[in-house]
Amino acid sequence: MLRTNLSSALIAASLVFSSVSLLAQASPANQMHHEMPKPTNLKVLPKNISGDDLMATMHGFTGSLGVHCTFCHEEDSKTHHPNFASDAKPEKATARIMMRMTQNINGRYLASLPDHGDMHKVTCGTCHRGNSTPKDFVAPPEKHGPPPPPPAK
Ligand code: HEC
Ligand code: HEC
Repeated sequence: MLRTNLSSALIAASLVFSSVSLLAQASPANQMHHEMPKPTNLKVLPKNISGDDLMATMHGFTGSLGVHCTFCHEEDSKTHHPNFASDAKPEKATARIMMRMTQNINGRYLASLPDHGDMHKVTCGTCHRGNSTPKDFVAPPEKHGPPPPPPAK
């Protein structure tokens, strides 16, 4: 199960943040057998994305943020089924901004590094690490030697 989540998270990461040509080649290691209706409200992902690739991307989100689908997707109060096309939840709007931000970090900034390795990409998990809001990083106390002297005035 952990392996499955991990591999779909990786696939999702490469799907969302690679070029469209890469997208067309990628195929999920683990086929998801949920029958999903054709998406009607995609604004960031390619509109012709396959159902398997869409689900791999979504499972990447849940794994990276440590949440369930309904963290971003509105649930019908009567049927308790998620309405995936609805934009009612602000978290879904935030997620779209995050998707564009991550695409820009990779496509604009990292890609412009002279020695950028193809394997080094920022994904949702790079920052979120299983948390819906990333935790602040606190550097561990330095172990060796006294702190450097204050700069000379
Ligand atoms: C972190 C937020 C987030 C989580 C968690 C999430 N989704 Fe999504 N989902 C989105 C966003 C954002 C879109 C729209 C993407 C776009 O505009 O290209 C979307 C779109 C979809 C769509 C297409 C809807 C349509 O008709 O346009 C489906 C289906 C879907 N998600 C299913 C799921 C499932 C199933 C899960 C749980 C496994 C899930 N999502 C978890 C953010 C999320
Ligand atoms: C560069 C670091 C970074 C990356 C990459 C990143 N996020 Fe975030 N994300 C943040 C930070 C920081 C916040 C908190 C922003 C705030 O509170 O104003 C946040 C907040 C969010 C929230 C709102 C959580 C809430 O409680 O409302 C969602 C949803 C989200 N991110 C989804 C995503 C998704 C999906 C991806 C990948 C497509 C992603 N993030 C990639 C840093 C990142």
